[in-house]
Amino acid sequence: MRVAIIGCGGIGARRAQAVQNTDGLSVVIGVDVVEDAARAFGERFGCESSTDWEAAVTRADVDLVVVSTANNAHASVSIRAMSAGKHVICEKPLARNPDECQAMVEAARQYGVKLKTGFNHRYSHHTWRARELFEEGAIGNLIFARGRTGHGNAEGLSKRWFGNFELSGGGTFLDNGVHLLDLSRWFMGDFVEATGFVHTHLPALGRCEDNGFGIYRTADGRVCQLQSSWTQWKGYLFLELFGENGTLLINYDDQSCTLIRRGAESSVWQFAGVPDQSWQRELVEMAAAVRENREPLANGYDGWQAVKMAYAVYEASATGRSVRL
Ligand SMILES: NC(=O)c1ccc[n+]([C@@H]2O[C@H](COP(=O)([O-])OP(=O)(O)OC[C@H]3O[C@@H](n4cnc5c(N)ncnc54)[C@H](O)[C@@H]3O)[C@@H](O)[C@H]2O)c1
Repeated sequence: MRVAIIGCGGIGARRAQAVQNTDGLSVVIGVDVVEDAARAFGERFGCESSTDWEAAVTRADVDLVVVSTANNAHASVSIRAMSAGKHVICEKPLARNPDECQAMVEAARQYGVKLKTGFNHRYSHHTWRARELFEEGAIGNLIFARGRTGHGNAEGLSKRWFGNFELSGGGTFLDNGVHLLDLSRWFMGDFVEATGFVHTHLPALGRCEDNGFGIYRTADGRVCQLQSSWTQWKGYLFLELFGENGTLLINYDDQSCTLIRRGAESSVWQFAGVPDQSWQRELVEMAAAVRENREPLANGYDGWQAVKMAYAVYEASATGRSVRL
């Protein structure tokens, strides 16, 4: 597949590297509204470069568009690409708000193309191992889940588009938190109700919360408790899944997956030092979805639901009432 990458910042470069490392995929063009960024990207990855994203996503020699711009351009770029018959991998969060996400999901259906959300954390070695164990029935049916994610870069992000609500759509829950929202829903299934609180400690962030706390309930009453932060000085992502027959712990800090069977010894799978292949594995999965004409893993609908989960907590926090999802 021939790939156009729209948005040549940190993640655009990471995605381009993954494309170059994947058999059967090549980068045709990199586009950025900042001319110098586009040019540098073209030189680094040996591809064409441009500042005109619309021309790039409608080219006949492009099959797949990777959207790695700031969040405010995700919907417009993706929908235009899909209307031209291109498959799309769009970075997380799928868009700034649930309405934009819904329009993207509808466009994918209307134009008969595949839309995948860039939830690369699903493909990290330790998460993938946890998923395999879960599907093998290692812990049985889930009873509840608990997770947290965080980093301490609130101040840095307040100076970039991440801290501008118009461009980002939200704070930590939409940024790093959306990975955790997606992972918890991947294991627990759809949630029907949410409540929680968001708080902004750093005034420069305005409407972008630097801390969010959510509680989500499934239709059959199971509960998941999640927290996302931009003022957490150590630790990144930790998810605990409690089943009828045991517990699975997914730990991004030491890249491990732990299985604790009821009344038995724990087993630990360690991936520290193993190169991160999540970005490449995500591309391989998308290429297979296109080839097999099936929905990709972490499709547009999944991206939409994760953004809905964040917005439900925004609403609950503002109104003091729980929100139906
Ligand atoms: N999957 C992950 O783990 C992960 C990690 C970090 C960021 N992200 C996501 O990746 C995306 C990009 O983040 P980043 O850290 O690379 O940001 P960045 O600011 O480094 O890069 C974004 C680039 O997009 C360009 N841009 C903005 N609007 C554009 C448009 N309309 N057309 C073309 N280029 C445009 C900007 O000039 C900039 O160079 C965001 O959606 C972010 O949430 C994902």
